[in-house]
Amino acid sequence: MYRLRRLRKSQALRDSAAQTHLSLSNLVMPYFVREGRKMRQPVSAMPGVFRFSQDELLKEVEQLRRAGISSLILFGVSGEKDDSGANAYSENGLIQKMVRALKKNFGDELAVITDVCLCGYTKHGHCGVIEKSHKVTKSQSRQIKIDNNKTINILAKIALSHARAGADIVAPSSMMDGQVQAIREGLDKNGFSQTAIMGYSAKFASNFYGPFREAAGSGMKFGNRKSYQMDFRNSDEALREIELDIQEGADIVMVKPALAYLDIIAKAKENFAIPLAAFNVSGEYAMVKAYAQSVEAEKELAIEILTSIKRAGADIIISYWAKDLGQWLKT
Ligand code: PBG
Ligand code: ZN
Repeated sequence: MYRLRRLRKSQALRDSAAQTHLSLSNLVMPYFVREGRKMRQPVSAMPGVFRFSQDELLKEVEQLRRAGISSLILFGVSGEKDDSGANAYSENGLIQKMVRALKKNFGDELAVITDVCLCGYTKHGHCGVIEKSHKVTKSQSRQIKIDNNKTINILAKIALSHARAGADIVAPSSMMDGQVQAIREGLDKNGFSQTAIMGYSAKFASNFYGPFREAAGSGMKFGNRKSYQMDFRNSDEALREIELDIQEGADIVMVKPALAYLDIIAKAKENFAIPLAAFNVSGEYAMVKAYAQSVEAEKELAIEILTSIKRAGADIIISYWAKDLGQWLKT
């Protein structure tokens, strides 16, 4: 008889044989930011998540640092929307101001990542510019057409404005073809060769983004994102997306969501020697919030989930539990 239970006998033995360890340095905390003052506005679909004004964000990040987390990703909740997302690259825009304030207060001790997309800044809520020739009627609303090349030019402008504000890493999430290349070229031409790119490389058209869209006010007015985000039936295509992002100059590639896509994470890790990120998304977080009956139960679930993402092969994990986990692991 093989007695595999020998090494399960005590916590000390289990710990000594454990293969996977969460590390706070690999965790990224997402933050939703908004205009205003003294705002710390709860997001109803995501208990424990808030939209912060600049003053409150600075206080919050102080706590984040104390919890042992030193990197974050910013999402803007903008009230100023148009058809092409022009407010996303204004020099004095929401994200640009937040990045400057964070960098002024925390310097290089904090890694600042910015999400680069249009959906929070367009009236229609899509991640790209809708083709001019394309009039949206009710019957056509299922097959909207996004102008790829117009969109990647705008993404390059947004990324450049974030880099100018001091972002360490820009993270294009709109799933347009060639977005990483357009951004890399724009950054390099303007003297930002040291700004890194984290591609949302294999981002699936997922049903797990619902709570995020409420938080960011970035839901679509019509149609869906299936003509640009990936079909969840595919895995070869995910590897091609990742390979292309690497060729285009990505420094980090990402798989998103995480939990229903652990197979993709594992394949990506097996196939590419590059830092791999996984986004443990809003719906994954909200499901646990709905299910866990106590903080203790939530903590155990979060640790199991994040460990499984790491075990699958993710080097970097973006998670709404990042700060909590820092606090939990310290106490
Ligand atoms: C914007 C963006 C989304 C997420 C990250 N960046 C939503 C979407 O594509 O609709 C989802 C993150 C989450 O659900 O936690 N393109
Ligand atoms: Zn988007």
